[in-house]
Amino acid sequence: NSMLSWQRTAFHFQPEKNWMNDPNGPMYYKGWYHFFYQYNPYGAIWGNVIVWGHAVSKDLIHWLHLPLAMVNDQWYDSRGVWTGSATILPDGQVIMLYTGSTNQSVQVQNLAYPADPSDPLLIEWVKHPGNPVIFPPPGIGVRDFRDPTTAWLTSEGKWRFSIGSKVNKTGITLVYDTMDFKTFERVEGVMNAVPGTGMWECVDFYPVSTKSDNGLDTSENGADVRHVVKVSLDEDRHDYYAIGSYDEKKVKFVADDSKNDVGIGLRYDYGIFYASKTFYDQRTQRRVLWGWIFESDSEVADIAKGWASVQSIPRTVVFDRKTGSNLLQWPVEEVDKLRLRSKEFKDMRAEPGSVVPLDIEAATQLDIVAEFEINKEAFEKAAPSNSSYVCSTSGGARQRGALGPFGLLVLADADLSEYTPVYFYVTKGRDGNLKTSFCSDQIQSSVANDVHKHIYGSFVPVLKDEKLSVRILLDHSIVESFAQGGRTVVTSRVYPTRAIYGAARLFLFNNATDATVTASVNVWQMNSAFIRPYHPDQSI
Ligand code: FRU
Repeated sequence: NSMLSWQRTAFHFQPEKNWMNDPNGPMYYKGWYHFFYQYNPYGAIWGNVIVWGHAVSKDLIHWLHLPLAMVNDQWYDSRGVWTGSATILPDGQVIMLYTGSTNQSVQVQNLAYPADPSDPLLIEWVKHPGNPVIFPPPGIGVRDFRDPTTAWLTSEGKWRFSIGSKVNKTGITLVYDTMDFKTFERVEGVMNAVPGTGMWECVDFYPVSTKSDNGLDTSENGADVRHVVKVSLDEDRHDYYAIGSYDEKKVKFVADDSKNDVGIGLRYDYGIFYASKTFYDQRTQRRVLWGWIFESDSEVADIAKGWASVQSIPRTVVFDRKTGSNLLQWPVEEVDKLRLRSKEFKDMRAEPGSVVPLDIEAATQLDIVAEFEINKEAFEKAAPSNSSYVCSTSGGARQRGALGPFGLLVLADADLSEYTPVYFYVTKGRDGNLKTSFCSDQIQSSVANDVHKHIYGSFVPVLKDEKLSVRILLDHSIVESFAQGGRTVVTSRVYPTRAIYGAARLFLFNNATDATVTASVNVWQMNSAFIRPYHPDQSI
């Protein structure tokens, strides 16, 4: 179906066909990045048969698909080889810890190893003969016990990892210690818990540096280190994180922002981004984040097109040393290698209520970097207001205010019958302070009516003297947008029917009533990445 094949992405990771969900066991090993993922080999929907797909890359951009790494061939994973994480021991040994859904649908934890550690592609995997190694403990539901993290070392030399669960409606992190990855000991209590959040899937736990932009290996701790806990909330399908302190002796994580009892209050992404996982990249000393971007069209459409889901662009994550209260996410720098021709639009003026075409070639595979300024007088004149702006319940890009919305219309056709605004909306509070929201509005994104049309977004911290800035990676049916250097990120899926191929255009827009916007926009056409099957006889 050529209409639907347009939606396939050119530089976001996808299998050749069928269903994909969570990223699994990402790591760097003997010169290769390894990426595993939840995969249904038999169709474009999540199903009873979920196995581990596998691909390798030299640069996190170009990928070779390898044979399935693990299939559901044991009683302890016959209903699914579910999500897991890799731990690389100091001697280089790789331990894969994953959840199996047993023939009785009990969630158990299992181990797997590379069959041949000298093979940099790690094509063959063996499951530990002693599997399963951990069963759900007393008091934990047998279907609420999954997705082990990467393990980290304690100062006593034990390996420790966490598994998400819930008790009643409280999401929790269970903790296990092991010396040898053969026998495991449950640590009493939980590392953290937040009432009302339900089942915690795909927990991630890692240190970030408050002194440098280098990433930290998972076992690092000490001065100048904060810890991050991320949980995927089954109930609302979003990934939440908190920055805080990890007390190794007490085996507790305490969020910095516990004042309003949130405990786990920030989101990696205010659009679609779920079941994410980081790994420490020893090659470049950075921490890299992957997230599953599911579809927002219908299941019928997914079956028709024969595939569902993409992965986010791998993102580096660092602690935001300027705000001290959030992470910064940014596309890994290797993405820049895909940049082809660029076109620069300098100091473009957009008057209130205007749409300005940005004349480029086909606008379907782009890397866009834009900066915006609004005139001082408009700020000063703007009436203060008590009510705050919330992207998701606002009228989107069509709701006009004094100081917003303004931004870009991506995946637009020339007549503007379809377009997706990515925009800022500034409001002035009673205290005179400005507050900035960053949103992505899907309402006009497609004339098709079988797709979700949400408005995504959230607040974005803007510090004194900072311009408003955004980077957008646009790749056919995905719009991945990073505001203020990655303080707030919004990813959406869009399914235009007219704004496709050569018909897709890019516009600057300003729908504020008072503010005049000056924008500088740099647009790169993006090359396609090679994402294709590996053949053993081909040179790599
Ligand atoms: C999250 C999740 C995990 C589970 C896997 C099964 O999307 O539900 O909790 O391990 O997917 O595919």
